[in-house]
Amino acid sequence: MPLIAILAGDGIGPEVTTQARRVLDALDLGLTFEDGLVGGAAYRAAGHPLPPATMDLAYRADAILFGAVGDPAFDTLERALRPEQAILGLRKNLGLFANLRPAKMFAGLEDASALRPEVAGAIDMVIIRELTGDVYFGDKGRGTTPEGLREGHDLMRYDEAEVARIARVGFTTAMGRRRRLMSVDKANVLETSQLWRDVMNEVARDFPDVTVQHMYVDNAAMQLVRNPGQFDVLVTGNLFGDILSDQASMCVGSIGMLPSAAINDAAKGLYEPIHGSAPDIAGQGKANPCAAILSAAMMLRHSLAMPAPADRIEAAVATVIAGGARTADLGGSVSTTAMGDLVLAAL
Ligand code: IPM
Ligand code: MG
Repeated sequence: MPLIAILAGDGIGPEVTTQARRVLDALDLGLTFEDGLVGGAAYRAAGHPLPPATMDLAYRADAILFGAVGDPAFDTLERALRPEQAILGLRKNLGLFANLRPAKMFAGLEDASALRPEVAGAIDMVIIRELTGDVYFGDKGRGTTPEGLREGHDLMRYDEAEVARIARVGFTTAMGRRRRLMSVDKANVLETSQLWRDVMNEVARDFPDVTVQHMYVDNAAMQLVRNPGQFDVLVTGNLFGDILSDQASMCVGSIGMLPSAAINDAAKGLYEPIHGSAPDIAGQGKANPCAAILSAAMMLRHSLAMPAPADRIEAAVATVIAGGARTADLGGSVSTTAMGDLVLAAL
């Protein structure tokens, strides 16, 4: 029986994860579940955002269903103890180098987009973000200049193997879609990006059926709002991918709708909504559980080889949205639990 670690975390994390769990239970897939503490919740209970018991559970589990981390109460702690370190530690320790962030317009949500409906309606893309390298994990530090000024630095760095393995995920994903890969970098300024671009072109030789193009990240940010329908698979580094995926989420209507997968070489993965802990609405039953429910679907597809129930979950969410149900983020008043009820009914 596959073991699923449930790491619900902070803020709205527990509320939305509960709904995802209900959906998985209803499908009766023979999964076992074990809860673990993570983020600010873990710091409160155990003095560390990623306690050893949680890391142990994450190693033992076949897949991880993750809620959200982040709690303003802990923003002044030393960096190593802040809630966000939990997700960074899980990614690094488990080698979850490939982050898949699909952004697709749901029929009926065109008006919720920050873009004109006819522009937004064409969005159907996957952002593939490298997740265990780049400036996130390079050498960082604080110091003082010879003149006595405070300074800080974070090293942006990739080696060719790191670029090649995320390139392969990008090309393979493109093979299963419209066979177009857009690699996003800043090769006009950064050596890291020039290496990235060179390696992308080398890996491209193994995928002659995929058309690869390159775009600078500033242009990509502009094109994402000008004509997002042009993108099929977009592959980029950790920092650029962090920024562009938030931007893409608003293009499709709400960050509350977007799931993500972070997977390693062995297809083990951590599945989480791309939204954060939203402390301002936590505990009020206002959060949209769709991103969490869709993350559970991605888990079934990518880590548990259960594509059929994954399709069913995605179809149920699409039905509920097409039927007009809207949580607060989408301008409605349907509660978190009621949205879960509707998805269950549509199953
Ligand atoms: C994300 C988040 C994280 C990141 C934070 C919480 C560390 O913004 O998953 O996109 O920057 O990767
Ligand atoms: Mg982010």
